Amino acid sequence: MSDTQHNIPNELKATAKAHANIAVAKYWGKRNSDLNLPFFDSVSFNVEDLTTETTAVWNEDDFRDALSINGWQVPEHTLGRLTRILNTIRSLTGITKRCILSSKNNFPLSTGLASSASGYAAAAAAAAAAAGLELSESELSSLARLGSGSAARSIPAGWTRWHAGNLEDGSDSHAVSIAPPDHWPLHVFVIQVSEGPKSISSSEAMQQCQSSPYWPTYLQQASQAADFAQNAILQRDFAALTEAMHTNALQLHALAMTCNPPICFFAPKSIEILQHILRASRGIQVCCTLDAGANVVVLCEETAYPFVKNDIIAFGLPFVQSRIGGGVTVQAKPPHLSSE
Ligand code: PMV
Repeated sequence: MSDTQHNIPNELKATAKAHANIAVAKYWGKRNSDLNLPFFDSVSFNVEDLTTETTAVWNEDDFRDALSINGWQVPEHTLGRLTRILNTIRSLTGITKRCILSSKNNFPLSTGLASSASGYAAAAAAAAAAAGLELSESELSSLARLGSGSAARSIPAGWTRWHAGNLEDGSDSHAVSIAPPDHWPLHVFVIQVSEGPKSISSSEAMQQCQSSPYWPTYLQQASQAADFAQNAILQRDFAALTEAMHTNALQLHALAMTCNPPICFFAPKSIEILQHILRASRGIQVCCTLDAGANVVVLCEETAYPFVKNDIIAFGLPFVQSRIGGGVTVQAKPPHLSSE
């Protein structure tokens, strides 16, 4: 982020909106956990209807940074990863003020619905814009990565690839768009199997998974998953996308179940839905994935849509129906604050 531009605006306030993303080829394991640098590339799509909107204000009068999410004040000692983002902005701009962030999420936190991705992407974009820091998309993606790895992929639009990079400082570890949202307008269903918070954080689980006897094989297989997924997406090859999603997700869950102590992210309903979609995918264009949680995300083509929607309603669980989403958007002066 050396060639960044910086003009400190009069009013140090901005709002940003970012979408959650779901990985087709997942990020799992860090080569550097301070900087959230991954072992290998990952590929995902943004979800249009799962969003976080965050307003950031740099304020002279406050003694400490603060974050509220849906009106709930996040305890100061848990701001750690956000502080990394804010300190980076302070060192790039010379701003010494504190940053007050208020966030609105339109979906439950920490249930495997990738709230950290949209959360840190929106926070990084809002805080940087409020500080007058003009970052390129790659630089902003690197900045969001400091909060949570997958947040790097919520900065660019549509289908995105996070390049793991090789540099020790992580400056080449950022996501880029590989195709816009309308490249392949699939239907997305996010089925909420679990409402409660996850029992283990992704970072902890990633670390624990390295104790599995299958870790070396997983590392070797997962390192090739991004190329395979990207080709499937660019060619709009649904059979290949299905293979990419199912293989990659189930390898991750097999790894988790075989580490010490074992981790099982599935709830009984996750398995019921998974079995149903695996069966259905032999006949119609539908596939699914599960992140480090119990929720199931289903993708389907237009031709399969009526059947898939009926089946999903029949599961009797809350779900969000959506499309492939855009990238982060920033308003330097949000309309609802313009009269203040
Ligand atoms: O970005 P984190 O630390 O929340 O980890 C995300 C991990 C997965 O969601 C399971 C995979 C991914 O690539 O999004």
